[in-house]
Amino acid sequence: MIDRKSFGSTEELHDKVAADVTKILRNALLESGQSLIALSGGSSPFPIYEKLSRTGLGWEKVSIIPADDRIVEEDSELSNIAALRRVFGDTGATISPLFETAGNEAQAAVEARGIADKLKFPLDLIWLGMGSDGHFASVFPGPDYDTAFKPPAQAKAVRVRPDPLPPEAPVSRITLSVPCISNARHIIMVISGHEKRAVLDRAITDGESSGLPVARFFAQLDRNITIYEGP
Ligand code: 6PG
Repeated sequence: MIDRKSFGSTEELHDKVAADVTKILRNALLESGQSLIALSGGSSPFPIYEKLSRTGLGWEKVSIIPADDRIVEEDSELSNIAALRRVFGDTGATISPLFETAGNEAQAAVEARGIADKLKFPLDLIWLGMGSDGHFASVFPGPDYDTAFKPPAQAKAVRVRPDPLPPEAPVSRITLSVPCISNARHIIMVISGHEKRAVLDRAITDGESSGLPVARFFAQLDRNITIYEGP
């Protein structure tokens, strides 16, 4: 089921998402004493991450991984793990990258599988964004598109080489696979703006025939996703 929540102001959107995520984390910590969450990169979620990082909730028991990352060194402005470290670095949370070796894409993909295999899935939370081309995490059309949806040996992380390369970060990526994302206890997506709302409407109305990655994701999802939509 897709639960769409619309907000008239950015402030309301940020407050509600931060409050709901805080609740999810608190419940996970109460239930199991620890929590594993995956956070998307890009730029729009960071003001909410900042708000969240100032919430006292026992961060030292929380492990954070990127939902996806661009295969670049950590000193690159395109690095999602570096951006997450800047925000959550002082909270006490454990922040783990999806790979170590940015210089070699194939090696990064092997490392990502190994790193993911050591984590304690399922995720308590996957926080997704969506591009105006309908991508989410780093699930893009290209030679690895089907692999991201149906990874070999149920790999939790895979390499994706988007074709065409997205202009905002024109590099190959490592992404959590769609089965891994779909298996999270809580799945949220946060988007803003008319353009993205129109893409989302199209994905939901036309379904897979829209050709949008997010529509293919929704079509195979057998649990709830909450989508927070800002102005
Ligand atoms: C990435 C992402 C990506 C992002 C969307 C939306 O690292 O590129 O994880 O999937 O969430 O591109 O980004 P914005 O929310 O900044 O528009």
